[in-house]
Amino acid sequence: MKISVTKTEIDRLVTDLLALPISKGDLKKEAEKLLSGLELDQKVLKDFKADAGEVVLLYGGSGKCSASRIALFGVGEAKTLDDWRKGALSIASRAVELKVAKLAVDFSSIDRLAAESAQSVETLADTFVAGLFAGSYRFDRLKSGKLDKKKPSEKKTELSGIVLRVEDALLVETESGVVSGKIVGSCQKMARDLVNLPGNYLQAEDIAKAASESGKKYGYQVTVFHKKEIESLGMGGLLAVNKGSFSPPTFTILDYKPEGKPKAVIALVGKGVTFDSGGISIKPSENMGEMKSDMAGAATVLGVVEAAARLSLPLHIIGLVPATDNMPDGKAQNPGDVITTYSGITVEVGNTDAEGRLILADALTYASEKYKPDVIIDLATLTGACIVALGYSVAGLFSNNDKLADEIFQAGLQTGEKVWRMPLWDLYDEQIKSDVADLSNTGGRGAGSVTAAKFLEKFIKEHKNWAHIDIAGPSFTPKGGGKVNGGTGFGVAMLVELLKKWS
Ligand code: BES
Ligand code: MN
Ligand code: ZN
Repeated sequence: MKISVTKTEIDRLVTDLLALPISKGDLKKEAEKLLSGLELDQKVLKDFKADAGEVVLLYGGSGKCSASRIALFGVGEAKTLDDWRKGALSIASRAVELKVAKLAVDFSSIDRLAAESAQSVETLADTFVAGLFAGSYRFDRLKSGKLDKKKPSEKKTELSGIVLRVEDALLVETESGVVSGKIVGSCQKMARDLVNLPGNYLQAEDIAKAASESGKKYGYQVTVFHKKEIESLGMGGLLAVNKGSFSPPTFTILDYKPEGKPKAVIALVGKGVTFDSGGISIKPSENMGEMKSDMAGAATVLGVVEAAARLSLPLHIIGLVPATDNMPDGKAQNPGDVITTYSGITVEVGNTDAEGRLILADALTYASEKYKPDVIIDLATLTGACIVALGYSVAGLFSNNDKLADEIFQAGLQTGEKVWRMPLWDLYDEQIKSDVADLSNTGGRGAGSVTAAKFLEKFIKEHKNWAHIDIAGPSFTPKGGGKVNGGTGFGVAMLVELLKKWS
């Protein structure tokens, strides 16, 4: 999608839909002025409240305006970035529903609106553009019309260009926000696509391929360990989970190095289970299909590393992605099996459905040993228990470092991705003890997301600056309601925000 900034007067913009942001404060005078300037009927303002996300359409264009449709979109009080995000989501979503090809947004008063929101013009444009990407996102590539390359393309009905109209003096500042919002928006989209692809379209090899393609395109190094190398490294966790699978595992390393000396070395680890049936401890069949999203952590890591490379952040960032599916089979691991992980720590597999922690264990130890990073952050759709605790909109945050935890929390507030801290007290270690091995991969009924995090903590080699984010809830919106369901790209914007802060 092309997004550009222009200073062309709005009445001269050629567009299918001209969108005007309206805040509650502006509703009376500004909106009236706008409409009368365009010679449009003002009756519409009787019912329009300018709630963030509210959109109203006007037709019957006038001599004053070349756009065939005009939309007012509410940005609420316009006090927070959330208001702008909601506004962007709805107007972009509406543009897609209307099959509009070209959308123009009047941002002539962006400086005043930014000041009211206590944000810079750049941040506002950044947030707004990322919101436009999110709102226009649809996953339709598996519909027959798109799948069959020979059929005529439906391209003409797709939102292909957005132009933001600003005053001359703000062109440069707005543009730099647009560049950044576009990168975050498109990396989020990549993550969502990967999450939405089902297991028969996305296996471990495909995750490796997606990373390699991104690395080639944006100039960072990608190394893929295949089964042989994973075996010789002794990654017993990843191999154990893969035992029942028809397709081999991969371990992908995305390595972005800036020009010059990096300000810090950051390791990002993402769970890449392309489909989680539970294995021999098989899951109930109801909604099992949603477990195609069990590689959302991996998708987010791919998105963040690509964004960091495209933004040329002055950090050395290593993405580590262990990938496999989790299948039942005669060759699959059994409950009760004892495996030896990459670290040498032995694990009794109480439940083959607690597979995420087994593959992450290997990746965390490898990250810590091999790269000696300043920070390790892992993202994983790790436990249903985290959804029970926090619901579908909030991720669980676990960290052995208060400063890091707070920085992640703050970054999430900025980007509208909510995380909530959970404890890592040693009292929970009791629950993951095993009679026969060093550890058990199951912790019993209570505090399931905490015992999973405690398990991971054993594999970071005493690293002092680690965070684990359980994204089981917010990474995937189950079917229902009128919203766009499926992968959300949760964590991409938040981690990019965090990395920018460290830059
Ligand atoms: N991938 C699941 C967790 C999950 C559940 C993610 C629902 C998203 C939505 C994970 O591998 C899993 O199965 N965890 C088990 C752990 C248990 C067996 C200790 C769980 O949460 O039930
Ligand atoms: Mn599982
Ligand atoms: Zn899983």
